[in-house]
Amino acid sequence: KTGYITLDTGFKNTGSTNSAITYLDGENGVLRYRGYPIEQLAEQSTFLEVAYLLIYGELPPKQELDNFVSEITRHTLIHEEMKKFYEGYPSKAHPMGVLASMISALSTFYPESQKSELHPAEVELTIIRLIAKISTIAAWSYKKSKGFPIMYPQNRLSYTENFLHMMFAQPTEEFNVNPVIANALDTLLILHADHEQNCSASTVRMAGSSHASLYAAISAGVCALWGPLHGGANQQVIEMLKQIHQADESIQKMVEKAKDKSSDFRLMGFGHRVYKNFDPRAKIIKQVCDEVLDELGIDDPLLDIAKSLEEVALSDSYFVDRKLYPNVDFYSGILYRAMNIPTEMFTVMFALGRLPGWIAQWKEMRDNKEPISRPRQIYTGPTERNYVDIENR
Ligand code: SDX
Repeated sequence: KTGYITLDTGFKNTGSTNSAITYLDGENGVLRYRGYPIEQLAEQSTFLEVAYLLIYGELPPKQELDNFVSEITRHTLIHEEMKKFYEGYPSKAHPMGVLASMISALSTFYPESQKSELHPAEVELTIIRLIAKISTIAAWSYKKSKGFPIMYPQNRLSYTENFLHMMFAQPTEEFNVNPVIANALDTLLILHADHEQNCSASTVRMAGSSHASLYAAISAGVCALWGPLHGGANQQVIEMLKQIHQADESIQKMVEKAKDKSSDFRLMGFGHRVYKNFDPRAKIIKQVCDEVLDELGIDDPLLDIAKSLEEVALSDSYFVDRKLYPNVDFYSGILYRAMNIPTEMFTVMFALGRLPGWIAQWKEMRDNKEPISRPRQIYTGPTERNYVDIENR
């Protein structure tokens, strides 16, 4: 019809990936890391133990876990030269842009990490460095954006306590991290740790398949996660709830707007490519929201609005027919607000949680000696034609 033909290139579909890391059952809302249900890990494990499980495949014996944790604690400092990079960013720089570039810049301080083939000990050290330094980089990007002095990591603190201390402590006074907040953050990081072949994990696998360094692959994953349809949704959810709270939009009007095909507005935090049932992570986060806000004595109107919005949407056939349920991003922002984490840092928090999953996906791809990723296409362009001189166009 249009003079175009579609050429079926007929190559084997490399679209799907074999992986032993995370199991999702979208119809039944099941999520397991290396076979362990997310509900049990959220309740009984810690983020660094889950990171070890995802990356190395097994729950570590105590000595192994203690070594892993102490190695990470020891590597939280970044090269002093890297502090200068922060001077170059505008104060309004989005912290995801800072994070992506700083992680890529890390590789320049460890040139041995750029080799095509790494010794297992070099891989382990790179993994430790990334997990340790991402929270320092993230916290310092926040401090720099506010013109506040940076706080160095403290080896006496746990992973989440250290992050919160670097985020909120000032050199002028004692700052004690609230254990309720540190524990809630640990749970949130566990819930974000991996999610099989999501957009950013697939980006990490694809970038890593060229044998670019793990730093480069993770930096690519950060960029993919930044998108508002992916990790950026948690920030958008809060903006949406604030709009309702400021009475700019009623809940019903927001729901109607999301159904209106003439606009590309979507109910952020709703829907999922795989889950056609409740996202099990959203269920847990909603429950942790209730518990933590209650323990902290916080009455956040946005939580009530979120619950009402969920109720209205899930009683509307448009959402029910399309199986659009709250996803991981719908309630997570309420918890980050309770922790005083600013909205612009929400997607960075997602990246902190997802890092071990990205590393696990990259390591599996490299351990399996997978070939460079090279998706094929169905050609839909013009058939052969001859060049036309400019005066005849
Ligand atoms: C994450 O892949 C992962 O695992 C991602 C993640 C992870 O842990 O890595 O789980 C993290 O990214 C969670 C998703 C966060 N994004 C959002 O909350 C943004 C809002 N959600 C949507 O944009 C959407 O639901 C997606 C992107 C999440 C999924 O989109 P799909 O599966 O491609 O669904 P679709 O775009 O084909 O929509 C199917 C229908 C369409 O309507 P019809 O054409 O059938 O009439 O549902 C509608 C869509 O318009 N729809 C929505 C909607 N999501 C889908 N309508 C209103 N609001 C929404 N949120």
